[in-house]
Amino acid sequence: MPYKTLEVSPLTPHLGAEVSGVDLTAPLSAAQAEDLRAALIDWHVIFFRDQPLTFEGHKALARCFGDIHIAPSTKAWQVEGHPEITRMHADAESKYVAGEDWHSDMTCDPEPPLGSALYLHTVPPTGGDTAFSNMHLAYEALGERMKAYLDGLTATHDGARVFAAIAPPGSQFPVSVHPVVRTHPESGRKALFVNKQFTARINEVSKDENEAVLAYLVRHVQRPEFQCRFRWRPHSIALWDNRSVQHSAIWDYFPMTRSGYRVTIKGDKPV
Ligand code: SIN
Repeated sequence: MPYKTLEVSPLTPHLGAEVSGVDLTAPLSAAQAEDLRAALIDWHVIFFRDQPLTFEGHKALARCFGDIHIAPSTKAWQVEGHPEITRMHADAESKYVAGEDWHSDMTCDPEPPLGSALYLHTVPPTGGDTAFSNMHLAYEALGERMKAYLDGLTATHDGARVFAAIAPPGSQFPVSVHPVVRTHPESGRKALFVNKQFTARINEVSKDENEAVLAYLVRHVQRPEFQCRFRWRPHSIALWDNRSVQHSAIWDYFPMTRSGYRVTIKGDKPV
């Protein structure tokens, strides 16, 4: 795709591109914002290097794509004075890290986020990559009979599956029903929309059938040919489209430190 203000270097033929020629620490022009939005639709996840973002710069980047989503369930990790920003940190004291299982963000919400911008200032010397998988490819690779079977099915996504183990006792978590196959509101492409973290069940089938089909789908979305893998350096950013990718944070660097901030962009009801 030609862009007026950016250079784009793909990681794989179908997913992920490193974007250069833009300084995210300075205000963005309307033409740059338009190119960034186009690059996200084309590549589903875009990466930037050497961008020492301030909190305000991080929010300004996210706002090129929509309003910022403030998730009550992540209150404990909010940066003081900046409720839009979630601290992402792991070190020798960590017992778990956010997002280890394949998922798209907060699909338990009635309107799951459009996407997220993750900025890391501190990374381990090796490891701590984030893997992404293209849900358009995952859908398109299914056989026609499976596509017909999934057509019209819905699934229940339950926040308790992710947050119950780490939230105070008695906490309430969102539960939402979404189509198993969603249509991307901007590109019109279909995407598989079930994930290992949040999807509890496919609703219109028996318990046994759900277990078998959901297990098949959450395995299918992890096929290596749908994926790209981002190797972080300090002051890198990954900005992903939650409507067309899943991701997984690889925790292979314990006890090293990996640290930064995430801003999440509001989305709409999947259809
Ligand atoms: C997440 O947002 O799920 C975490 C991604 C990461 O830390 O690489």
